[in-house]
Amino acid sequence: MSTKDTVLAVLMEDGQALSGERLARRLGVSRNSIWKAIEQLRQEGYQIEAVTNRGYRLVASPDRVSQPEIQRYLRAGVIGARMELHERLDSTNTRAKALAATGAPHGYLVIAESQSGGRGRFGRQFFSPEHSGVYMTYVLRPDLPAQQAVTITSMAAVAVARAIEAVADVDVKIKWVNDLYIDDRKVCGILCEASMDFESGQLEYAVLGIGINVAKMEFPEELRDIATSIGNACGREISRSRLIAEISNQLEALYGQLESREFMAESRARSNVIGRDVLVLRGEERFVARALDIDDQGRLVIRTESGVSRVGSGEISIKFRKE
Ligand code: BTN
Repeated sequence: MSTKDTVLAVLMEDGQALSGERLARRLGVSRNSIWKAIEQLRQEGYQIEAVTNRGYRLVASPDRVSQPEIQRYLRAGVIGARMELHERLDSTNTRAKALAATGAPHGYLVIAESQSGGRGRFGRQFFSPEHSGVYMTYVLRPDLPAQQAVTITSMAAVAVARAIEAVADVDVKIKWVNDLYIDDRKVCGILCEASMDFESGQLEYAVLGIGINVAKMEFPEELRDIATSIGNACGREISRSRLIAEISNQLEALYGQLESREFMAESRARSNVIGRDVLVLRGEERFVARALDIDDQGRLVIRTESGVSRVGSGEISIKFRKE
């Protein structure tokens, strides 16, 4: 961590005024470096009061994702423990893929305050306005056959649903296979992209991208009826840093179940698809089907006029009929 981030972490931890001299001694740097760090933090919007004879006190934080604040809530030791934070990226998935290909460790996290080319499944765009959402991607190195990569998406959906419920008083549902919903509107999308080792058929790495609408916001006309944010749903602002930490904590808690897939029971219990008629999109084809279940391989079990079948998330996507 930089001196600036360490100063911030100490001010957050202590909650009381700390003199420049004490800070400098504690961090083993000069008083001038402390002064510079305080100035930098103020420029980033942190309100830091200088109390005569007592020192600096953090009064308010801007609505920014910050590494010290994430660390404050982080219990995970591997997933999300190492991270990089960008003001703007094309796509955190693209950046994470490049890092994974050059050896980034398991659990490494790439976060951006905004994305210019955030993308979703089937090449769709993901609306990623600045300072109002969580846009982030984990590098994962699971020991898993490549054809089971969808299990990672199912695990992530459960982890993110739990994390959102831990920070806000809302009920989160999972729309098979990678969307999270609150009050029948999309709040989060997940995009897991994998690279396979062709000799073994195992995954070489996966990048797990998560996009969440967090702040209270006005959506563009075309999204107004189908999207929401956590803030809009619960009526108050949510700390994005805390949410990121909670997601890492939940992912780490579920990661050991990747083979046993115990989380699939919760995934089904949270489904807002099972028991509903949905519009199935397969290439150019469109048809209505009744969603009956989701099997342990993450396939959707559907009934149409031609009978019951199981379909994988790579073959089809589904829409609720009002969308
Ligand atoms: C979807 O809705 O189909 C999935 C959307 C996934 C969006 C996230 S935002 C962070 C990461 N970077 C991307 O470019 N996409 C994912």
